[in-house]
Amino acid sequence: MISIFLIGCILVLSGAESALGVKTRYFKWEVEYVFWEPDCIEHPVMAINGQFPGPTIRAKAGDIIHVDLTNKLSTEGVVIHWHGIRQAILSFQYIGTPWADGTASISQCAINPGETFPYQFVVDKPGTYFYHGHFGMQRSAGLYGSLIVEVADGEKEPFHYNGEFNLLLSDWWHKSVHDQELGLSAVPMRWINEPSSLLINGRGQYNCSLAAGTCKFTGREQCAPRVLRVLPNKTYRLRLASTTALASLNVAVANHKMVVVEADGNYVEPFEVDDLYIYSGESYSVLIKTDQDPTKNYWISAGVIGRKPNTTQALTILNYQSVHGGKLPASQPPVTPSWDDYARMRSFAEKLRTLSRSYLPRPPLSHHHRIALLNTQNKYGGQTKWALNNVSLSLPATPYLGSMSYKLKGAFDPTPPPESFPGDYDIMVPAANSNCTVGNGVYVLPFNSTVDIILQNANALSANTSEVHPWHIHGHDFWVLGYGDGKFVEGNFNLKDPPLRNTAVTFPYGWTALRFVADNPGVWAFHCHIKPHLHMGMGVVFALGVERVQGIPGQALACGLTAKLFMNTKF
Ligand code: C2O
Ligand code: CU
Repeated sequence: MISIFLIGCILVLSGAESALGVKTRYFKWEVEYVFWEPDCIEHPVMAINGQFPGPTIRAKAGDIIHVDLTNKLSTEGVVIHWHGIRQAILSFQYIGTPWADGTASISQCAINPGETFPYQFVVDKPGTYFYHGHFGMQRSAGLYGSLIVEVADGEKEPFHYNGEFNLLLSDWWHKSVHDQELGLSAVPMRWINEPSSLLINGRGQYNCSLAAGTCKFTGREQCAPRVLRVLPNKTYRLRLASTTALASLNVAVANHKMVVVEADGNYVEPFEVDDLYIYSGESYSVLIKTDQDPTKNYWISAGVIGRKPNTTQALTILNYQSVHGGKLPASQPPVTPSWDDYARMRSFAEKLRTLSRSYLPRPPLSHHHRIALLNTQNKYGGQTKWALNNVSLSLPATPYLGSMSYKLKGAFDPTPPPESFPGDYDIMVPAANSNCTVGNGVYVLPFNSTVDIILQNANALSANTSEVHPWHIHGHDFWVLGYGDGKFVEGNFNLKDPPLRNTAVTFPYGWTALRFVADNPGVWAFHCHIKPHLHMGMGVVFALGVERVQGIPGQALACGLTAKLFMNTKF
């Protein structure tokens, strides 16, 4: 019933609030560069309405979000992706809004300087989400913010809390994204190196050393940490989301256990931890009890794991309101676990289970289709690339959604990429032939089919190196059926209560198995969420049910081969 009503809302864009409480939340956003001091060092950042991070969107499940996004950058296009939002009401997928997914070259043409694009979509599921630029390396330039969806009126969360805080995690470089981009494509490649700082809600301290007293916790407004002010003996929900460009993180609250209750907008069986691993593209909610000595303050820390760290921890303070919030905790911040303890990271990942007393779907017991993706680092004409089954993704000039909807020829490579890799490939050593190809072919998935993805990690270009890759899917959630070391072997999938998420990590020299139902018509990216890796080709494109897509706005088509069509058609 409610879904039918929502359709009405989408189509006629009715008033701000209806009798049933379904709301359209309107936003007018302008993207531009401003000078800012995210880590107390001034640098240009990509801001929205002059704010960094961008404004937090808060909505209720079922609401319609409408953002008129104006590009005020003088020389570059822009798009915004709503990370974790599936752009569909899944019981009525035919009226999805895949054109609002905000992926340049995939769902739409980049918005040109001076132009405005209307994003409109339903947030159908409560949870902790975020949004970010999805064109070039604009996410690394600071184009991001939080998107929080609360339960619909009359609904309840399956846990109780007295208050909540929102912590959006990111990493920050003192090198411009243009510089970074150029370096990544250079021959030989110039790596971006480790972040200058880690930020919590866009605030950090460059080279912060507590011992040397170089951390600036007060004074500078733009980089002073947002202190979490709490009352004793209450339960608080911390919403954690990571939009880092590179860093995998471990988060801890000194002296306080955390109970994990949500992952990527889906409820999980609660489990208690001392610290939490979060990879780029993931989000979690944890509950903490303020049951410690209320005359003290406590550190909250986030530190780099998964790569040899060269960045100081991000810090903020949990402040029991009986003490002054500016008083630094007497004890040391939590120590980040060793960066290469992958067994510990994996055991955290394996604790996640879909909440049993929830309506969340369980996976179909078998699959129709399996795609095995070998993750390798390669060379192409001297450049360093990342490839899947030896193909490195390079996005086309005409976005797929338009070219596929209008069946235009020549917009992208018509041959789909390989669905598997040679069975005798040795994942433990650098490839004998490190060359890959570059392409923009698409995996066309039968609509409503159940698809298994096996992500097979391998050795990178240099010996004894294999990296962490958090893989993120657009337009869908997947079930994480299992992880393993070495080469993928059949069996041991969790089909009973696997977590439903939109991002899952692949550990060095290991594999990760995912399953999803391809039920959301559109063209969707599936990629490593590490920004430089995607830039170097670490992604694939899925298309499904494109013939069912309706209502692509003309502006989404105003480039490449669809531009002509757009000019000739009255939309
Ligand atoms: Cu948050 Cu395609 O990414
Ligand atoms: Cu990666």
